[in-house]
Amino acid sequence: MENELLNIKNNAVSLILDAKEKSELEEIKLQFLGRSGNLTSLIKGISKLPEEKRKEIGMLANEVKQTIEEAIDRQAVSLSKQTTTARREKIDITNPSIHPPLGHRHLITQAIEEITEIFEKIGFNRVRYPEVEWDWYVFEALNFPKNHPARDDWETFFIDEKEHPKYGSMVLAPHTSGGQIREMERIKPPIRMLNIAKAYRRQSDASHTAMFHQFETLFIAENVSISYLKGVLDYFTRSFFGEKREARIRPYHFEFTEPSFEVDVTCGVCMGKGCKLCKEGWLEMGGAGMVHPDVLKAGGIDPKKYSGFASGWGVERVLMMREGLNIDDLRLIYSNNLDFLEQF
Ligand code: PHE
Repeated sequence: MENELLNIKNNAVSLILDAKEKSELEEIKLQFLGRSGNLTSLIKGISKLPEEKRKEIGMLANEVKQTIEEAIDRQAVSLSKQTTTARREKIDITNPSIHPPLGHRHLITQAIEEITEIFEKIGFNRVRYPEVEWDWYVFEALNFPKNHPARDDWETFFIDEKEHPKYGSMVLAPHTSGGQIREMERIKPPIRMLNIAKAYRRQSDASHTAMFHQFETLFIAENVSISYLKGVLDYFTRSFFGEKREARIRPYHFEFTEPSFEVDVTCGVCMGKGCKLCKEGWLEMGGAGMVHPDVLKAGGIDPKKYSGFASGWGVERVLMMREGLNIDDLRLIYSNNLDFLEQF
């Protein structure tokens, strides 16, 4: 009889916990505790037991009965709670929706896309070349002899790798100009290359980051003159900075161009009058020049037949120049500061 009582208890409790509706609980109650219920009939049999067993079994039966009653009550309470939350969570499709926060592309990515679009309109093709590059592409073929002091201007990071017999050491590309040679190896003139990539230099302070972006143009065809360079420069200046800004070139020196120039654009804050940001009215955008005959040769192109221009400007720099931004610390651009990033 003891076992039967325990079985009844277990069966009843598991049925109760499975019950999904109050009416089910009513049925279970009837099945076990009703007038002809399982437990009730067992209890009726207790009086027929021998004297010494009666008390013990009686107590156990009471306990089972209590457990079942309590389980039914508890399940009834939890079922009614569930129905009220379900009612509360019912979706009202006429409610306005909750908008998840929406991000946007990083300001540098936006600038890169814009620059690409501007140059694609005049037939330039965007390409990408390795950021881990050989010395040969970024220096040697660009007319920097080995151990030439001008190499120091590029503050290069060297990769700890064995030197290649032809290409020399492995470096992090310190400028995008290595793409000129790679492009000449890839296709024959006419060449209209736009190489936008990361550049790395050993520098890190408020106005320099060890990684930044450059966009390099290379145009090679027959009879290309400086006026082509100036034309493309003016076109870019108008498209990117707006009609009111002007560009100028002034003589400079690079190993890989001859003649070489530095390129300036009028300051967007004072429009060329001179102010705190620019001092003299002009802001420097980067370098440019006519591709050196030795560089054409290194790229397998006949300098007697073809000529061309190249330019290499900073993405971060043109962006700041356009927005008239005078960011105290350039590193802010690459931080996760949403107050800053959300403005763009
Ligand atoms: N590579 C040069 C720099 O990083 C810029 C440049 C590109 C100059 C092409 C001339 C021609 O400063």
